[in-house]
Amino acid sequence: MRILSIETSCDDTGIAIIQYSGNNITILSNIVNTQTIHAGYGGVFPAMAKREHIANIQGVYEEACKQAGIVPPSDKGEVAEGRRGFVDAIAVTVGPGLEPSLWVGITFAKELSDKFNIPIIKVNHMEGHLLSSLLPTYEIGKETEFRAMPQKAISLLVSGGHTQLVHIDGVGNYNIIGTTLDDAVGEAFDKVARMLDLPYPCGPAISKLAEAYRSKNIKTELKFPRPMLHSGDYNFSFSGLKTSILYHIRDNPIQNEDDKMTIACEFENAAIEVIVKKTIKAVEEYGATHVLLGGGVAANKYLQNELDRAGIENGFTIYHPVQQITGDNALMISIAGYFNPNNKKIPDELKAIGNLKV
Ligand code: KG4
Ligand code: ZN
Repeated sequence: MRILSIETSCDDTGIAIIQYSGNNITILSNIVNTQTIHAGYGGVFPAMAKREHIANIQGVYEEACKQAGIVPPSDKGEVAEGRRGFVDAIAVTVGPGLEPSLWVGITFAKELSDKFNIPIIKVNHMEGHLLSSLLPTYEIGKETEFRAMPQKAISLLVSGGHTQLVHIDGVGNYNIIGTTLDDAVGEAFDKVARMLDLPYPCGPAISKLAEAYRSKNIKTELKFPRPMLHSGDYNFSFSGLKTSILYHIRDNPIQNEDDKMTIACEFENAAIEVIVKKTIKAVEEYGATHVLLGGGVAANKYLQNELDRAGIENGFTIYHPVQQITGDNALMISIAGYFNPNNKKIPDELKAIGNLKV
């Protein structure tokens, strides 16, 4: 089975063409065009993101076809009448995300679907992140076997829009056991980075400074709060942490690079300690053997190391997504479309944004 997938939920225009055979996957192409226009504004503006998706999507589609070695069909007859093959299904992100951005991908999917009579699979963006770590390696054109979905697993989803702990009871059976009450962790990285005058996108910039700080071994008294660490549930909150950093900077203006590094590192320590400790607790309570990590913040080395350490100490295994698909991409949307084509069993919270009908 061959699936063409489309992701436009935020500021990345992604299209992938993937070949599946049972439990094996071959990435024929995976193109992501990340919008750079938002850099100067420190955040993603929905109307601007939509405009960029519209401008880019046809080019991304052509590039994805080219990388896959497929000439995009030009007329309905060719594909519909079976005179030539194309793809068997189109998987598209239908939410959650920025509605104007989502519509660009959905409209593009519908046009292709109508033109060539190809069925559409509606995919939840978070299910894409959740399943992304089942891909063990990333090599275009090489067939790879998926990791099997563990019977007892917890997923930790950390992105710019979400911070969630999900109990997985098989593909398609998800129960969100904890979520953020305010800012998502990626959003907190982005906002703290702005306070430190770091360039957008900010997660990697903070983490680079934090790593530099750790390697310098500077001693500091500075310690930011660990919000909701002892809340007794699996929810998160990062806005208080962000505010305490704001007050710290107000009362202790940044003088030099060392000050910036110290704040970046202490922020990363605080945010990641809470996330890792809550993950350990969820693993224990649900008797999980595996943690499936997903989302843009999964690229964070310190988080990866701390989770690995927690896994070794507490006897569970971490499935990390390969670096190429931690951020938003169409490959993970394809994987979710393939594994859960009907998206029947997904609870409402995980479904597409409320008023979006496809
Ligand atoms: O999953 P994603 O690409 O988009 C959403 O679905 O939100 O996640 C983007 C988020 C951004 O907030 C970005 O700053 C963060 O992931 N991020 C990181 C790192 N790389 C990306 N945060 C911390 N450390 C990183 N290395
Ligand atoms: Zn995402």
